[in-house]
Amino acid sequence: MSPMKPVVIVTPFHESQIQAAIYCSKESGIQIRVRSGGHDYEGLSYVSEIPFAIVDVRNLRSISIDTKNKTAWVETGATLGQLYYTIASKSITLAFTAGVCPTVGVGGHMSGGGYGMMSRRHSIAADHIIDAKLIDADGQILDRKSMGEDLFWAIRGGGGTSFGIVVAFKIELIVIPQTVTVFNVTRTLEQNATQIVHRWQYVADKIDENLLMRLFLRSITSSRNGKRTIGAFFTSLYLGRVDDLLPIMQDKFPELGLVKEDCTEMPWIESVLFFAGFPRNTSLDVLTSTVPLVRPYFKGKSDYVTEPIPEHGLKGIWKFLDEEIVNNAELEFSPYGGRINDYSESEIAFPHRTGNIFMINYVVHWDTPGKKESERHVNWIRKLYNYMAPYVSKSPRTAYINYRDLDIGMNNEGNTSFKQASVWGFKYLKNNFRRLVRVKTEVDPSNFFRNEQSIPPLS
Ligand code: FDA
Repeated sequence: MSPMKPVVIVTPFHESQIQAAIYCSKESGIQIRVRSGGHDYEGLSYVSEIPFAIVDVRNLRSISIDTKNKTAWVETGATLGQLYYTIASKSITLAFTAGVCPTVGVGGHMSGGGYGMMSRRHSIAADHIIDAKLIDADGQILDRKSMGEDLFWAIRGGGGTSFGIVVAFKIELIVIPQTVTVFNVTRTLEQNATQIVHRWQYVADKIDENLLMRLFLRSITSSRNGKRTIGAFFTSLYLGRVDDLLPIMQDKFPELGLVKEDCTEMPWIESVLFFAGFPRNTSLDVLTSTVPLVRPYFKGKSDYVTEPIPEHGLKGIWKFLDEEIVNNAELEFSPYGGRINDYSESEIAFPHRTGNIFMINYVVHWDTPGKKESERHVNWIRKLYNYMAPYVSKSPRTAYINYRDLDIGMNNEGNTSFKQASVWGFKYLKNNFRRLVRVKTEVDPSNFFRNEQSIPPLS
């Protein structure tokens, strides 16, 4: 909740209106915040401490699919759900690899990477951007050719905001089988969750790349005895048929005890609904909705894990999840490996490649407004984050820029030195941060496009 409201919200229908907003902003000194799907974890697309205007690109959401060349132009005001829906309406064997939540916006998501259920087989969204239309700080409309390879490199994973307003991305679509298999399986502490989660860490990034087993850890009430316990919730997509999946699971991860009855075969587009939590047979039309699926108050943080967390480390996590104040907290373990590692760390600005077993997203939600409630929950997640330090990547302790977290460092309102921004910059972007600063200095030396964690230019 921010006391500061935007001076104006601009919802352009045409690029020229974005150019006009940029000129007006320069003349009036009112900062611009750019909003696509509005899912920024810290609300940086619509919250500011200084007078600001929002350029909300929600009306720029056209999607044109070229099935012959397996490409698409997607405007950044579209959501992921709208993109998936439109692709599926044209072809049953084409898809796109990006995030799970259908109301996430294309603009922010693809600018920061874009991890989803097919990422072990097809890597992340930003790896499939092949052209873009961007309006820079001078109001010029640029494409890949006119912006040059440095800027085009920067907007693929370097995070939203810093380099201009992206109006559209051209993406290459991926080919998928007509039928995929999904499963959700929960194991509690009484069902050896600790040992199974421990074992998962040795399997998740190495198993067949058509399989992505995401793992959510939460405190739950056991259906057997009504007592609180820890639930390890495996939610998975296999790009193939169940009869091919089962032998893989039997061979590599028998500890989970997956059986055919746990699995459901469906077209890929229905799996999008499945992972978004919609009941079976929900109309695909829900994917076109822009009403966020998130609850009002939450705080998130992230980490990367390069060595399996020992069982005693996991037991410490259970203690945190068992605390009474956090009925609505979870850790999401998202496996890496597979095709994510086919790219070098510097191929595009998104740097998290070989060496990562999985990424952790820590999330805590609450419903009641007020400082006390928010402090209680935020303190809890910060304590958990401190506890995790020995078990996650170090020097730097890396984080995912799309899981924005202002705790790891911020820019000043005025100039920010390279040294100061390095504190968060290297965590999100590793060594690519240096090149991003160089590109920023070149294309936006006056730091027109900025927020609390935008790439600063060298002064
Ligand atoms: P928003 O509009 O808030 O923008 C985010 C940032 O990008 C802001 O800094 C904004 O200024 C900038 N920006 C937006 N549009 C721009 C444009 N056109 N040009 C330039 N800059 C622009 N991530 C993931 O990888 N996989 C997942 O499965 C999920 N799932 C998920 C679920 C939920 C419920 C949430 C809240 C978030 C996720 N995310 C995620 C994280 C998500 O990828 C991240 O928050 C994105 O930045 C959101 O993009 P939006 O456009 O929705 O946000």
